[in-house]
Amino acid sequence: VESLDPEFGSRASGHIGWGRFPSEEPIMSAIISLLTIIPSDYRNEVVLITAGPTHEAIDPVRYIANRSSGKMGYALAQAAQKRKAKVVLVIGPTSLTPPPGIHTIPVTTAEEMRDAVHKHFERATVVIMPAAVADYRPDQPAETKLKKQGQEPMSLKLSSTPDILTSLALQKSGQFMVGFAAETDNLIEEATRKLKAKGLDMIVANDVTKPGAGFGSDTNAAVVLDTHGIVEDIPLMPKRDMAMKILDIIRLRLDHQKQTLHTV
Ligand code: PMT
Repeated sequence: VESLDPEFGSRASGHIGWGRFPSEEPIMSAIISLLTIIPSDYRNEVVLITAGPTHEAIDPVRYIANRSSGKMGYALAQAAQKRKAKVVLVIGPTSLTPPPGIHTIPVTTAEEMRDAVHKHFERATVVIMPAAVADYRPDQPAETKLKKQGQEPMSLKLSSTPDILTSLALQKSGQFMVGFAAETDNLIEEATRKLKAKGLDMIVANDVTKPGAGFGSDTNAAVVLDTHGIVEDIPLMPKRDMAMKILDIIRLRLDHQKQTLHTV
């Protein structure tokens, strides 16, 4: 017998809390997993995943954000969990219900995401970062709500946020590191540049101008690259299936690394 955990939200009693009947998505995915043989090939891995956007405060009521829903990161976390990995999911603000049974750490800003990721980095064996982390934040967030000054233009001074992947690369001790790149142009060039600049083993490049790919949708299409070039061109498919494909590619590479170490 396979049972699902209740979901969080408003209940018939009028209270808000755990106790809602699960929605279609987790029921379908439980049925599909029951009917599919999923390997337990991540049994010995600790997979650290980030998901969603970050919010950078302008004042107490406004912030800078982006269109990431967190779905790609959630799909990866659930896929890794099904393959029996220990999963740590660091998640920016989203409207998604935290996946049951996964150690989920909610954060708001890029700095908080960096701190949470660093805290769990040492014991991780694989790091996957589909989070759309803000590159800039308001230099001096206002302590009180900014007032509109007639029709005068307004400018905001922005400063860079910490680059999480770059900071991790400096402390790397064998972790397999996968970044994501969401691009509107020069997909391969930009993704390759980020792969090298951030010291990654692999990058998943999303052309977010393709219908059904990238931010917010339940599907995605991507080109997976490593330092030698294109590894795989993944056509449009549900994010759930793409997550499994990405884990397949990482698994092959981890096995290859282990074999090489063994031979040496
Ligand atoms: O969340 P969804 O709605 O499902 O959408 C999924 C997605 C489109 C957000 C995802 O598939 C994706 O492409 N994520 C990458 C978003 C992006 O634009 O990343 P980037 O090019 O700004 O950054 C490249 C890499 O560096 C990313 O892995 C990012 O997590 C990381 N980064 C970025 C900035 C920063 N300060 N620190 C980082 O570590």
